[in-house]
Amino acid sequence: MLQQVQLYDDQLDFEENKAKGPFGDYANTSERYKNSGEPQYDFFGTPVYSPFGIAAGPLPTTQFIDAALAKGFDIVTLKSVRTDIFPLNAYPQVRPVICDGDVSTDPDFTVKVADAYTERLAVSNSFGIPSVTPSEWQPFLRDSKALLQKGQALLTAFQGTAHGKGKDDFVQDHVRGIELIRQTGADAVIEINLSCPNEGEAVLACFDTDITERIVKAVREANPDLKFIIKLAYFSDHEQLKDLVKRVGNIVDGFSAINTMATTVEDENGKEVFPGRPKAGVSGAPIKWAGLEMTRLLKQYRDELGYDYKIVSMGGVLTPDDFNEYLEAGADTVMSVSGAMWNPQLAAQIKATLQ
Ligand SMILES: Cc1cc2nc3c(=O)[nH]c(=O)nc-3n(C[C@H](O)[C@H](O)[C@H](O)COP(=O)(O)O)c2cc1C
Repeated sequence: MLQQVQLYDDQLDFEENKAKGPFGDYANTSERYKNSGEPQYDFFGTPVYSPFGIAAGPLPTTQFIDAALAKGFDIVTLKSVRTDIFPLNAYPQVRPVICDGDVSTDPDFTVKVADAYTERLAVSNSFGIPSVTPSEWQPFLRDSKALLQKGQALLTAFQGTAHGKGKDDFVQDHVRGIELIRQTGADAVIEINLSCPNEGEAVLACFDTDITERIVKAVREANPDLKFIIKLAYFSDHEQLKDLVKRVGNIVDGFSAINTMATTVEDENGKEVFPGRPKAGVSGAPIKWAGLEMTRLLKQYRDELGYDYKIVSMGGVLTPDDFNEYLEAGADTVMSVSGAMWNPQLAAQIKATLQ
């Protein structure tokens, strides 16, 4: 049985986690993982000690970033920020689920909430990607960047907001957001999330190829020198994915995939677990198949189209074997969220296999 509370305590509200966390072994930052020698891997121009990190989500404050770096995660992603304050979904926001097989893309697919986190980790979350104001998150970006040592890199994640004022406004929200991030001097690489299953839009931004292309082109036009990647959901329509890659794959510096998979989550009596939100994003072991499939497709299309974007892969990386499976599938960098949240030793275990 896994230790139930590590980075995050799901019995507490997200705001309380932010204020009091991280928890478990992550709370101990006095003993720090020691890298040695020279960093041998590249993360968008920054030399890093391993092509492995923590993806967007569980690192909302500088304390969490520091805890992840202390445990040997060399690439850490700051939780997605927005151009303005955005509300948090009501408690609860994170729960374990029972899913012995794989999550399917069938819209009626349902999983039951579980009592505890198990070795074959399956997690559901429903935050709604909250954000504080830029004047609050800009210092967080600056302070987090200041923590980086040799061989470590930061990925700053951005979430666009549809204000209900049409597509032009949505595109401009991305341009503004990138400008706000760049004001902090966070110059490494930015991830634009186009795949949030909790955003409340009828169609995920990444499934609307026209809006994706418009966002990518507008951000590139305003920032010719910027390194940025876009985060995708799992695409069951391979032709649609190929068309998207063809249209933006030579403008972005990379793709990250996948986000959680939207699934109905209920209790043993068939009742909602997340009030007012029958569906939540499922992550961990049951979505690994989808992350691997996307990695293989992104590699195949890169080869076919002669592009040179990077592939940042995630979805169900719980062990060094999972990490290696992703590298073999074509990932340039591998990330974990669920695995990293409940196993503080994951980076150290993976780095032991790289030596
Ligand atoms: C608790 C939690 C919070 C997350 N928050 C975000 C987020 O703010 N932005 C985002 O793009 N993805 C978010 N994600 C999705 C992860 O970045 C990742 O794409 C997904 O969980 C699949 O990886 P995993 O199976 O290793 O967890 C979150 C996932 C979890 C479990």
